[in-house]
Amino acid sequence: MGARKSMVLRVWDWLEGRYQVRSMMEGLLHVEIPRTARTYYFGGLTLFFFMVQAITGILLAIYYQPTPEAAYGSILFIMNQVNFGWLIRSIHAWSANLMIIYCVFHLLRVFFQAAYKPPRELTWVVGVLLLLLTLGFGFTGYLLPWDQRAYWATTVGSEAAGALPLVGEKLLVFLRGGTTVTARTLSRFFGTHVLVLPLAFAGVLLVHLVLLHVQGLADPTRKVGAKAVPEMGAGSTAKAGPQKRVGLLPFFPNYVLDEFIAWYVMLAVLIILVSLRPVGLAEPADPLVTPEHIKPEWYFLFVYQFFKVVPRVVGVLVPIIGGFLLLLLPFLDRNPHAEPRRRPFAIIAGVVTVIVIVAFSIWGLLS
Ligand code: HEM
Repeated sequence: MGARKSMVLRVWDWLEGRYQVRSMMEGLLHVEIPRTARTYYFGGLTLFFFMVQAITGILLAIYYQPTPEAAYGSILFIMNQVNFGWLIRSIHAWSANLMIIYCVFHLLRVFFQAAYKPPRELTWVVGVLLLLLTLGFGFTGYLLPWDQRAYWATTVGSEAAGALPLVGEKLLVFLRGGTTVTARTLSRFFGTHVLVLPLAFAGVLLVHLVLLHVQGLADPTRKVGAKAVPEMGAGSTAKAGPQKRVGLLPFFPNYVLDEFIAWYVMLAVLIILVSLRPVGLAEPADPLVTPEHIKPEWYFLFVYQFFKVVPRVVGVLVPIIGGFLLLLLPFLDRNPHAEPRRRPFAIIAGVVTVIVIVAFSIWGLLS
């Protein structure tokens, strides 16, 4: 044991001598965050589910075969023959849903506490990109089992792109690799799902976390604006003035331990969900038989329902414009206040948007 320890220490000294690992670790861990930010678990939980997705996704990719002839059979093989295959697949599916839920909760938390306001505009913009990439994971992953549900939900979902003025038709062919959903669609969705999106997500996430590290977490009781900027450097002990340090809490170990407890609880929730409701499989995909009720995943239901009740062009343009407004929110909302009572317009607009989205989703589910 002693010999092993000294070996570890020797490796540590070797690294320290060359790369100053200690000061690097201290820079990463010895930051302070506002005490009021203690319960900001949602972003960390989204990160947790992303890690679960990465691990279970790699395990699934060992057996999954991305061709129309083999895909369905390979999923059956994973579920029935591979040790714990059903468990890994169910965790991947449930964790994907939870990742989207927590990403949205995180966005709402940031919105209602005005944490997107200066100086965190870019953190928000990068966050919206992460949300889009997360939805991209959901959309591309849904096709992979190649069952009737997957095939037809993708057919209907990708059709929406075709409604875009001018570029719609080209975009549709680009998405599908042809005019209909075929082997080409499956292989490009697979490539996007397992390579393009994970790489893009990891890169964008790194930027999100670096921005967070540089600026620290926003204190919801703060004043927003150029003059209040020093308070926002709460991520670094060096930047926080003595009067501000009263309300600060060490990131390590306090915040990290709290976060780990939240992750542990979520792991339990995930196991319970998977045990009670393991994911199934519909009939194999049949391009000649259209099922009666084709619906996308729950997180696209509001767009789907909206699309059904308005002209096609409006149906596709409104969500795109909405996405741009969300992306540019920190630059559009010039109100310098953070407290909810001093930003009634933003709060009301946020609440109304949430209600409309939920209402359309329920309508889409029931219709
Ligand atoms: C999809 C993956 C995402 C991950 C893994 C992630 C991760 C995190 C983490 C760990 C934090 C630190 C504290 C917290 O949990 O609130 C954070 C903060 C933040 N995130 Fe995200 N985030 C994601 C998406 C988003 C989205 C969709 C938005 C908004 C559109 C966003 C905007 C922000 C902002 C502005 C902060 C700073 C909050 C503050 O200072 O209080 N993030 N993010």
